[in-house]
Amino acid sequence: MSASPVVLLLSGPNLNLLGEREPEVYGTATLEDHVAAARARATELGLELEHLQSNHEGDLIEAVHAARGRVAALVLNAGAFTHYAWGLHDALAAFDGPVLELHLSNPHGREAWRSTSVVTPVADAVIQGLGGAGYRLAMDGVAALLGRNLPS
Ligand code: DQA
Repeated sequence: MSASPVVLLLSGPNLNLLGEREPEVYGTATLEDHVAAARARATELGLELEHLQSNHEGDLIEAVHAARGRVAALVLNAGAFTHYAWGLHDALAAFDGPVLELHLSNPHGREAWRSTSVVTPVADAVIQGLGGAGYRLAMDGVAALLGRNLPS
């Protein structure tokens, strides 16, 4: 049996505080809850999910570098790095597989500075504003981007 394609989920700064942080914006589920939901859906889709959370841009950049040639697709909730981390943008531009940008909230409906994303220009797809459901849907999204048939 051939190994399942690996999907790497990257979580940026402050997402380790989900569940406690601004629950009126981000809900009460923890990051672990979201990763578990995504992993369950990934398994149904025949994908293997890996996850890394970091509050440091360099860690995320190095994870993208290490993903090159090994990981089939990236899902990235870059948190506030979304709005200004050009080093992360450049790392994503050097990744060969599909990239899906993910947000719990809809940044465009919030402060004006959140409407700029340095990730979007190097993303194949964006899921935002669907809360925790976005994590499960992101797995369907990458499966589609990888050309896999979605089970119903
Ligand atoms: C976020 C939106 C960002 O603007 C914010 O800085 C975050 C979370 C989201 O998931 O809605 O940390 O990426």
